[in-house]
Amino acid sequence: MARSKKISASSPMSDARSFLKSRELQLKTHALIPGGAHTYAKGDDQYPESSPVLIARGKGCHVWDVDGNDFIEYGMGLRSVTLGHAFEPVVEAAYRQMQHGTNFTRPAEIEIAAAEAMLETISGTDMVKFAKNGSDVTTAAVKLARAYTGRDLIAICGDQPFFSTDDWFIGTTEMNAGIPRAVIDMTLKFRYNDLQSLRELFEQHHGQIACVLMEPETATAPAPGYLEAVKDLCEAQGAILVFDEMITGFRWHLGGAQKFHNVLPHLSTFGKAMGNGFAVAALVGKREIMRLGGIDHDQNRVFLLSTTHGAETHALAAAIETLRTYRDREVVEFLWAQGERLSTGINQVVARRGLVGKLQLLGRPCNLVYRTNDAAGKPSQALRTLFLQELIRGGVLAPSFVVSFSHSDEDIDRTIEVVDCALSVYARALEDGVQRYLTGRPVKPVNRKFN
Ligand SMILES: Cc1ncc(COP(=O)(O)O)c(C=O)c1O
Repeated sequence: MARSKKISASSPMSDARSFLKSRELQLKTHALIPGGAHTYAKGDDQYPESSPVLIARGKGCHVWDVDGNDFIEYGMGLRSVTLGHAFEPVVEAAYRQMQHGTNFTRPAEIEIAAAEAMLETISGTDMVKFAKNGSDVTTAAVKLARAYTGRDLIAICGDQPFFSTDDWFIGTTEMNAGIPRAVIDMTLKFRYNDLQSLRELFEQHHGQIACVLMEPETATAPAPGYLEAVKDLCEAQGAILVFDEMITGFRWHLGGAQKFHNVLPHLSTFGKAMGNGFAVAALVGKREIMRLGGIDHDQNRVFLLSTTHGAETHALAAAIETLRTYRDREVVEFLWAQGERLSTGINQVVARRGLVGKLQLLGRPCNLVYRTNDAAGKPSQALRTLFLQELIRGGVLAPSFVVSFSHSDEDIDRTIEVVDCALSVYARALEDGVQRYLTGRPVKPVNRKFN
């Protein structure tokens, strides 16, 4: 029998920030939208109770919630907004384009310009197909690899958190209700930086693995020679190497982490930062593989990314302008520099408060994430909740510390001050127990079996 849980509005906040309107609308969002959000990572269970529930508008790296509270935001739009909210050149390019129509019965002229812009940016690629979501393009890469190799199994990196909303990936998580066992069994997992674990998969499933799909890097950097060895192994085994560059793309390097590490995969997928928040994603790769999605070969046809909105003209205009801005204004260099400023400042505060090993910054400066550990050094959801709660109290909304082109020195320095205050409470919570300082229930991981 289905389990039913009551969603309650958050309990009142005790400080100056009021979330009255947010709380009023919170129940309505849950009544109208399963989960109260269209992305689980934005959901109420990911944030403390004393949080803004609904954002009314954003400009640069600042957002204002429905109660009028102002926050400096990090990891904006799930890392899609790299330049800043309402970044004028991109908004104007999209607006100009939509005035000429957004979708026609035949392809739009702008599809050529967008394809050229993308293929020039990601070196060594010959063809591209656009879509609206990252999940669609990683799924397309899997299908294309299966069609090209005539094999069914796929190997994904089991240490990396997310590749797609589709069954071949979600089936491998805790939240796999509704996904047939047969689909789940076709996805195998290997460990990052552990070539032997991938070798064993190839040995156990000889001639059956269509592709190896992974992010080239997450919070852990590849060991020297690891990515090269993965590519060599794929080629020796007749499998396709797919890099998911949804997060690394246009951050590690304008040409992606593949360029940063100088290891070019056979196929790769991009999204998120491609359009500064507009819905656009891309599958790119070698002609020999990509052409199977075309109408000019005599092999079995592959249904490759044929969607109504895939080439929506204003999203492509946004992507072209976003890529141009990255190139002309040295955005990637700026992201690294601001991330460095932020991590240096936070690490100083952490050391001064005696919290080394408790609040840990992880990853490259262009993509900083953090871990909240308890006194024994173990990850703690309760302490994550407390840290988020105290950051929000100080006007910082930071599920990560992923910066954008709009994070000025002033924003970064203000954030460090707020982190300092938050850590004073964190330090006390380690002494007295975290429950004493939490204003509500703790956050939960997204991928879990039950609510
Ligand atoms: C590494 C990675 N791949 C794929 C996806 C899926 O992208 P989308 O949410 O646009 O479908 C995500 C989303 O968070 C991601 O982080």
